[in-house]
Amino acid sequence: MADTARIDVRFSAREIASRVDALAREIAAALPAEGTVVVAVLKGSFVFAADLIRALSSVGADWPMDFMTLSSYGEGVETSGRVRIVRDMTDDVRGRHVLLVDDILESGLTLAFARELLLSRGAARVAICALLDKRGKRRAEIEADFAGFAVPDEFVVGYGLDWAHRHRGLPYIGVVRR
Ligand code: IMP
Ligand code: MG
Repeated sequence: MADTARIDVRFSAREIASRVDALAREIAAALPAEGTVVVAVLKGSFVFAADLIRALSSVGADWPMDFMTLSSYGEGVETSGRVRIVRDMTDDVRGRHVLLVDDILESGLTLAFARELLLSRGAARVAICALLDKRGKRRAEIEADFAGFAVPDEFVVGYGLDWAHRHRGLPYIGVVRR
């Protein structure tokens, strides 16, 4: 396949690692040591979530973890606006504090959907943690309780984030230039 795209580094692996450590300290101080469950929204958050739970563990927050696969994008770079559950989580969230983890908060439709779903299932509180915050694109009323980096309206890839299923394995976050 011909590939003329160039990827410019936005956040290096080292910058990400130190931001994730700081986020973990902030989160561990804010949420209850007992009764918190981490729910990662797949697919995009799996790399971030893996680093985040290790950073949380190293500051004493050893929380259970579950996963939910949600989809709002097709192959494109714009949200379709409709969120669907591709694969549901299995843990019971009733009465628990949930740390909802995603790679990026853009329109907010995905995380707004997930938050409502968890609250409707009886979660005591849902705190949102997004590695990236693309505020300019918000369509739902939602803010991150914990955000790693603010990003402008550019399509970013790497560290779990994909563009049509590619580039998830990059150790850094970059912007695709065509
Ligand atoms: P939202 O529902 O518009 O907030 O979008 C959330 C989901 O869209 C994220 O979990 C990502 O998977 C995907 N997404 C949004 N912006 C980007 C981007 O710049 N690069 C890669 N994926 C993105
Ligand atoms: Mg995603």
